[in-house]
Amino acid sequence: MTTVPPSRDDWSAYWVGAEGGKAAVAGDEKAQTLSAFWIDVFEQTIPALSSVRHLDMACGAGTVTATARDVVDRLKPGDASFVCCDYSSSAVHRAVRTADDKRISGVVSNAAAQTFAPQSFDVVTSQFGLEYAGPDAFREAWRAVDSNGVLAALIHMSGGPIERECSENLRVLDRAHEQEFIPRMRKMIQTARRADTDHRVAAIVRKLETAFFEDRKVFLRDIQKTPPNPASVLIFQLLTDIGTLYQRRQNYQKSEADGWIEHQQAELGSYRSRMGSMVQASMTREQVQAIREACDGAQGGEDCIAKLHMHGDDEACAWQLRLQRR
Ligand SMILES: C[S@@+](CC[C@H](N)C(=O)[O-])C[C@H]1O[C@@H](n2cnc3c(N)ncnc32)[C@H](O)[C@@H]1O
Repeated sequence: MTTVPPSRDDWSAYWVGAEGGKAAVAGDEKAQTLSAFWIDVFEQTIPALSSVRHLDMACGAGTVTATARDVVDRLKPGDASFVCCDYSSSAVHRAVRTADDKRISGVVSNAAAQTFAPQSFDVVTSQFGLEYAGPDAFREAWRAVDSNGVLAALIHMSGGPIERECSENLRVLDRAHEQEFIPRMRKMIQTARRADTDHRVAAIVRKLETAFFEDRKVFLRDIQKTPPNPASVLIFQLLTDIGTLYQRRQNYQKSEADGWIEHQQAELGSYRSRMGSMVQASMTREQVQAIREACDGAQGGEDCIAKLHMHGDDEACAWQLRLQRR
């Protein structure tokens, strides 16, 4: 498998784009399971607190903060503050703008090197976030938890269904990347434009076309042999659109066609990078246990770590970590 370094820009592209209104791990069933987990965390924690200062690390579009706010308003109306933190400024803007609530503010910061004062929050949360920044980020998050406060996290699970889905997506995206379909299409269009004025180039165009459409046919046949996943559906559509663009290239302005190709290349690159980073971020039980052991002053033992199951599913999809500071 190709290693793809995770990048802040790739997440920003997601949070700016059409998909970014949702949580990064989305879908009705998943959303319900995750939301039930957080309602439980907040219902168990918030009534006993003397103040409510909530920090959501790697907040994305702010779904966990929205749940915290709802529970606070229901169980402990009054003074409360919520901070949404992410290293993608687009995520933070989206979280704060969507909430549209003066109590909710945003901070753009790397979770592994955040600068919140020690013990300055009562509840610190992370939904599939801190693990992207590595084990140091959990230590940093724990440092921000006040006495009697809580750190609660949902963590990607190595070998679980979310990691499997990301790995399957990544496999398709890696194969498409290796085939260089988009750079080849760019070259074909450029060469075909030259052929319009220089007939000697026509033979080169034909050679490029034959190789491209043959590789595309083989690729599409191969991905249809396995059950569809989001990446294969996307690539299937992209390769269909690319073929149409090429066939009808005379109907498009140069800038329009070139802009579309650049956009597709960037979108595909950031999707691949996000899938790669999700797979890399996934943790084994031993890794979660090591995080728990590094959190000095936490109450509880083994039961701080548990598996999270999607509704009606036998297979666990994530680790739950719940720590309370003495
Ligand atoms: C899978 S998304 C989860 C977002 C949100 N918690 C949710 O559940 O919808 C991972 C988030 O982690 C953020 N992230 C990745 N690495 C980070 C880092 N080093 N510091 C802060 N945020 C980071 C990304 O920008 C992205 O918003």
